[in-house]
Amino acid sequence: MDTPSIRSVLADGEVGARVTIEGWLRSARHSKGLSFLDVTDGSSMAGLQVVAPGELDNYDPEVRGLGTGAAVRVRGELVESPGKGQRVELRAQELEVVGDAADDYPLQKKRHSFEYLRTIAHLRPRTNTLAAVFRVRNVAARAIHRFFQERGFVWLHTPILTGADAEGAGELFEIEGGEAFFGRPTRLTVSGQLEAEIGALALRNVYAFGPTFRAENSNTSRHLAEFWMVEPEMAFCDLRGDTELAEAFLREVLTAILEECGEDMAFFDERIEKGVVASLEHIVKTPFEHMTYTEAVQRLEQSGEDFEHLVSWGADLQSEHERWLTETLVQKPLVVTDYPSAIKAFYMYANDDGRTVRAMDVLVPRIGEIVGGSQREHRHDVLAEKMKAQGLDLEEYGWYLELRRFGSVPHAGFGLGFERLVQFATGMANIRDVIPFPRVPGYAEF
Ligand code: 4AD
Ligand code: MG
Repeated sequence: MDTPSIRSVLADGEVGARVTIEGWLRSARHSKGLSFLDVTDGSSMAGLQVVAPGELDNYDPEVRGLGTGAAVRVRGELVESPGKGQRVELRAQELEVVGDAADDYPLQKKRHSFEYLRTIAHLRPRTNTLAAVFRVRNVAARAIHRFFQERGFVWLHTPILTGADAEGAGELFEIEGGEAFFGRPTRLTVSGQLEAEIGALALRNVYAFGPTFRAENSNTSRHLAEFWMVEPEMAFCDLRGDTELAEAFLREVLTAILEECGEDMAFFDERIEKGVVASLEHIVKTPFEHMTYTEAVQRLEQSGEDFEHLVSWGADLQSEHERWLTETLVQKPLVVTDYPSAIKAFYMYANDDGRTVRAMDVLVPRIGEIVGGSQREHRHDVLAEKMKAQGLDLEEYGWYLELRRFGSVPHAGFGLGFERLVQFATGMANIRDVIPFPRVPGYAEF
């Protein structure tokens, strides 16, 4: 804890300074009486080159025998590096082997497939790519809190164990023994929205940010059974205010990632998704496109594309449709609004046309839906009627309806899939590789 991070040594360490660093060997090259060790502590993409001379007391056999994965503490002097792409290197005066690594350490220099790395989730954060993903994830989370905190939103800690099915979609993980323990059936939350609405109707602007769970059997590159969701909720707000917030929010968080993760983003651009940095830079500068669901369906019908799923008014947009709209048609993020009420959750505000609701989805290239939100139905009778029509148990949602009887006001919010945001920002192809411990059908190891 007292030693400086390798990131700070690389950035600020002065030639001639004596420093101590701690980290793991990403590679080791031993030649006669001299060893070159690439040491990383996860604080940056670049490692620090340590040059260990044969004069070290423990050079033979300890230092000379070091291999990839071993943990070391090195004290020495920073010298100018003759190597390309690094300003300084560390000439070791003392090298302590804190934890040796057995010869069968699986992360040798060669590239491994992401599929394989998932099977060693206890070691994969030590790879360049996963470490970079987790650093970007962290910066994104910080930027999200900063965005809301600077605007006076209160972070509301919504529960993970809950009685309600917030989406009314039935994709729930039931808690075994919940009935006996709580006296009622309980589940893992699918969304903190309903509780966030309680918060908004007291504190005005709130947000939830935490894990959510869906028992949908979707084996895709964009679905997880456990994922994090960011859910702002605003009182005295309509759909327009909601989409404005979503746009400002996405822009600010992506800007923070570009500004604060330069080294990692350059890596993603070079190794993972060519052009990702330029595309994000473009996106944060350009206003999003807007269109209604009805217009989107017309555009899809006129597209001449041979979609796998049929497009017709009233059917939900499939991922292939969403991607065509945002990638091919408008070539930037697209906000689709006013969906048919039949394909959206019960809580959305009914438009006067009697068949659409004030819903909005934000679609982005490569991902499709990244944000889903709406203005909420705040009219008691309209809501009660709709819930009945959808077969929901009004008693189970008693408190939700009651909020509509005591000072109900127009309010709105949205949910951002945090992993989809990280996927979008980094260009990572599979959502399983942007969360430390993915949970998907048939897999919950680690
Ligand atoms: O569109 P969804 O289902 O909306 C809600 O849950 C609302 N209650 C949110 C709100 O208004 N407060 O989910 C919101 C977002 C989606 O747009 C998507 O980005 C992400 O959550 N998402 C998932 N991410 C990963 N794996 C899954 N299985 C996901 N399901 C939704
Ligand atoms: Mg949605």
